[in-house]
Amino acid sequence: MFRKEIYEQRRKQLAKDVANGIILIAGNSDAAFNYPNNTYSFRQDSTFRYFFAHNLQDLAGVIDCESGEEWLFGEDVSMDDIIWTGPVPSMRERAEEAGVKNSGSLADLALMLNNAIDQRRKIHYVTPYRIKTINYISELLHIKKDWVTAYSSVELMQAIIKQRSVKSAEEIVEIENALDTAFNMHTTMMRMAAREGTFEYEIAGAMEGLALAGGGPVSFPIILTTHGEILHGHDHSLKLKKGRMVVSDAGSENPEGYCSDITRSVPVGGHFDARQKAVYETVLSAQLLVPTLIKPHVPYKDVHIAAVTRIGEGLKAMGLMKGDINEAVKEGAMGLFMPHGLGHMMGLDVHDMENYGENYVGYDKKYKRSAQFGLASLRLGRELEKGFVITNEPGCYFIPALIDQWKAEHKCEAFINYTEVEKYKDFGGIRIEDDVLVTEEGCRTLGKPIPKTVEEIEREMR
Ligand code: GLY
Ligand code: MN
Ligand code: MN
Repeated sequence: MFRKEIYEQRRKQLAKDVANGIILIAGNSDAAFNYPNNTYSFRQDSTFRYFFAHNLQDLAGVIDCESGEEWLFGEDVSMDDIIWTGPVPSMRERAEEAGVKNSGSLADLALMLNNAIDQRRKIHYVTPYRIKTINYISELLHIKKDWVTAYSSVELMQAIIKQRSVKSAEEIVEIENALDTAFNMHTTMMRMAAREGTFEYEIAGAMEGLALAGGGPVSFPIILTTHGEILHGHDHSLKLKKGRMVVSDAGSENPEGYCSDITRSVPVGGHFDARQKAVYETVLSAQLLVPTLIKPHVPYKDVHIAAVTRIGEGLKAMGLMKGDINEAVKEGAMGLFMPHGLGHMMGLDVHDMENYGENYVGYDKKYKRSAQFGLASLRLGRELEKGFVITNEPGCYFIPALIDQWKAEHKCEAFINYTEVEKYKDFGGIRIEDDVLVTEEGCRTLGKPIPKTVEEIEREMR
């Protein structure tokens, strides 16, 4: 938990920006795994943790934007709770720890909200993503469940996005702490992938263990696959075979809840063959270009376009593409090789604030999401600002079903040499990802460097 003044300041700013009505922020509860007393690991709601600090179940916070008063609601534990799960601070103490003056029970919360409804006051809440929270808000605010999402407050979510998008120095320390763990996870992966015959799940398991040993869970289910062309490949059942690339996209949450999100792609056995090296260096060239372009006021959409153009040039040099690459990019030809976006915001959530809606976070009045295949998947297209933490994650994939479809449709055939592309259907994919802080003058790639060049990776794997 940060100093309580940090949470006080965040709430004060939020009340000022929203300006009217009251804000209700519900924390998360435990979720049953296979029966009620056997739960998934608890994950606090990021909005709640950002404004009300506590990483504990069944809490809710309220901010009155007009009076400036604040409350923390929840139940004091019973003797039964103490016996089974141990003592925890009283609600009074928890409120004090977060710099909140008032505390109360969940019945007090229901009463307060009923009074606010009677007074026809606006009650702001963010779009809930768990069924339990939808039900709770429906019950508290007497809204039909089907209408809970529609009645969520865009004003509140935009005010939160404004604050959470710009990371403070304390938050950067936490993100770099999560990146220390990611360093251990990915260097371990490299050493394990040097041995042909290892199962993907052995590596993914070792990586997940390192995340837990770093004080938090993984920041999303580990992507570790020798079928890197499956962008979110969570299946880890295959044996590592020479000739395949291992795509490892994984990160951790640190004890404060901040994330890392790193991808490295390495050859099984520890030595890139000529074809792997050529594709890898094409992606690496784009990934190294990106930090030279990042600075405040640059739209990330333009950086995405520069990165895919660089990949297109590399593929042309390899004989896989042809013609004017700038035209190819305009026509959407790069969607065949990189059907995802260059990156996204990262913070307390690995795709930071995605629960509020990607378009509110990554786009604005000036920058609207493209409808073009590939570019449409870019989560962050808007202009960058100092303090944003974003990912830089270009990739190149050979997806057999997509190649077949595009070829049959003669799609972009002025730019794609399908005869050559066919020969790469057994290749898989490559992605390289780092986390980047936008600074006053440009940017800084966060964390200690994880082997990334062909030479560095081969050395680590030896
Ligand atoms: N979680 C996949 C990625 O955004 O890198
Ligand atoms: Mn990732
Ligand atoms: Mn990412």
